[in-house]
Amino acid sequence: MRILITGGSGFIGRALSGELKNSGHEVIIATRRRNDSNDRFTWDSHELIPQDIMSGFDAVVNLAGEPVAPGRWTKERKKRILASRVNATRALAESIRNANPKPKVLISASAVGYYGPHGDEYVTEETPPASDFLAGVCRAWEAEALKAEELGVRVVLVRIGGVLGADGGALAQMVIPFKFFLGGQIGNGKQWFSWIHRDDMAGIIKYALENESVSGPVNATAPGPVTNREFSRALGKALHRPSFFAVPGIVIKLSLGELGGMLLTGQRVLPEKVLNAGYKFKYPEVGEALRAIFEKK
Ligand SMILES: NC(=O)c1ccc[n+]([C@@H]2O[C@H](COP(=O)([O-])OP(=O)(O)OC[C@H]3O[C@@H](n4cnc5c(N)ncnc54)[C@H](OP(=O)(O)O)[C@@H]3O)[C@@H](O)[C@H]2O)c1
Repeated sequence: MRILITGGSGFIGRALSGELKNSGHEVIIATRRRNDSNDRFTWDSHELIPQDIMSGFDAVVNLAGEPVAPGRWTKERKKRILASRVNATRALAESIRNANPKPKVLISASAVGYYGPHGDEYVTEETPPASDFLAGVCRAWEAEALKAEELGVRVVLVRIGGVLGADGGALAQMVIPFKFFLGGQIGNGKQWFSWIHRDDMAGIIKYALENESVSGPVNATAPGPVTNREFSRALGKALHRPSFFAVPGIVIKLSLGELGGMLLTGQRVLPEKVLNAGYKFKYPEVGEALRAIFEKK
């Protein structure tokens, strides 16, 4: 397949491009950065992609968006988080309308933040959206991607959990206190963390690209979500560091504001759709996933 990836230079995109190329697919990356390479082109992310460039892709993967973490969500930052996703996805769906021939499938990123906090309850693709900031971003983002469905394009909305990988993502921040022997749970540690190893993240997108039966929302999380306490223990073990420190919830809230509130709540997400479709996880269990990440380093 000839596949376009927006935001393909990022943490997920780099792993995905590698995985797709290894399987014999051709990958082209749309990036805001200037470049003169054959396998990427410059796109400012809110304007239409010219028809001659957009035509002839078999598939499009949309990963572009302003980072959500780390740092506080100021009013300005929230605007950028929302606008970068909505505008890029709108421009992409419009560009697909003008393409001739059109791609057969659009895989567009979303996040498990769609569901909002759910305590110990299990969350599946059937669970309705919440109404907080992140859920609103996900709903608006997904709505733009779904416009491509009206053009006869199969649309898959990957609701992504916390992606774990060696060189970036949330894990890069999480390991810092552990390295200083100060690691441990945050708040009461009972909040659920729906994680996924980056290889499975790329694996699920590849599976959705190659299997026509997959469409609509798809949870991209491992089948074994863990509490924050369980995750901290597993991380300490993988790093050979203690994990008995606890950062009080109030410290997280005062230092990170609304983003901190998100870290103190969570979702216990199940990837029901890909499991039913037959996707086999390489890393279903968190200890094994973390060991694999730190052994590779
Ligand atoms: N990683 C996770 O744990 C996780 C969890 C849930 C959802 N997601 C979602 O999955 C997508 C990919 O995640 P990722 O971890 O690979 O993100 P990432 O490393 O931050 O990469 C996203 C890419 O989007 C582009 N980008 C950054 N700011 C932008 C802006 N203001 N406007 C338009 N494009 C911008 C950048 O590409 P260029 O600089 O090349 O243009 C960047 O490489 C994101 O939309 C993210 O929200 C990720």
